[in-house]
Amino acid sequence: MSVWRGQVVVLTGASLGIGAEAARVLAEQGARLVLAARNVERLQGVAALCRIHGADVEVVPCDVTVEADCRALIARTSARFGRIDTLVCNAGQAMWARVEDVTDWSVYERLLRVNYLGAVYCTLAALPHLRASKGRIVAVSSLAGKTGVPMRSGYAAAKAALNGFFDSLRIELMESGVSVTIVCPGFVGTGSRARNVGPDGVELGRSPVDEAAMMPVGECVRQLLDAAEHRDRELVMTARARFAMWLKLLVPSLVDRMASTAMRRGR
Ligand SMILES: NC(=O)c1ccc[n+]([C@@H]2O[C@H](COP(=O)([O-])OP(=O)(O)OC[C@H]3O[C@@H](n4cnc5c(N)ncnc54)[C@H](OP(=O)(O)O)[C@@H]3O)[C@@H](O)[C@H]2O)c1
Repeated sequence: MSVWRGQVVVLTGASLGIGAEAARVLAEQGARLVLAARNVERLQGVAALCRIHGADVEVVPCDVTVEADCRALIARTSARFGRIDTLVCNAGQAMWARVEDVTDWSVYERLLRVNYLGAVYCTLAALPHLRASKGRIVAVSSLAGKTGVPMRSGYAAAKAALNGFFDSLRIELMESGVSVTIVCPGFVGTGSRARNVGPDGVELGRSPVDEAAMMPVGECVRQLLDAAEHRDRELVMTARARFAMWLKLLVPSLVDRMASTAMRRGR
């Protein structure tokens, strides 16, 4: 029987991409779901797909950059289900601009708020519930949080902050039974690059790279849920990325060149 059966899972960023696919797979496996994002119409679409699998689903509009929204998300979950077993901090947004081209400097604050503070707020609110259930926290980071990536400075900084927070929290929770899994995907074909923030602070509207050869979202979610199920401390997706993490200890300049090439090729 699936480990997710009957589990109450809160998913941020559930309206699209990795979050929406994770919701669908968790529904198939019998989880009870709380789906959060800003776009309620899209969330309702995802919820409808989940209900086809018989899942009990709550939709909660939530902008993770707003502390009160994150508190309300957890309060709604507790009121509806009386417990929280897993929190997946997945909401995120990236940028696509060289540092010297950035004209709207608020891009940096925006990316910190959505990729870092949003996860911190949700976690702070959910921790008492997760302690009670000896639950799981899954923080969706990125390879950009592990090593520098051109065009992604503010995003890489925010994901590095996310890693620092959850690596520290994991140690604090060592005896609690609550696990912290940091997930670092590489290039996943979710269409998210069209939603990257450009140098002027405006979303690009279309992907600057071909996403066809990227990791399919289903494979990303399979790996993510497997790592969460086994309470792994970290998941770095793809063998090439895991190799690069070792290489970075020995020849970091080579990893810089690998990152540059990967961004040029879009994978
Ligand atoms: N795709 C990749 O190649 C890749 C690689 C590495 C890491 N990641 C990480 O994986 C996660 C999911 O990425 P994805 O590719 O699935 O992205 P996506 O398709 O663009 O989906 C992003 C999700 O985050 C939500 N979101 C954005 N801003 C939000 C906010 N302020 N408050 C609440 N929700 C917000 C969006 O919903 P609303 O717009 O409705 O709010 C959407 O549901 C992100 O953390 C991303 O950084 C992705």
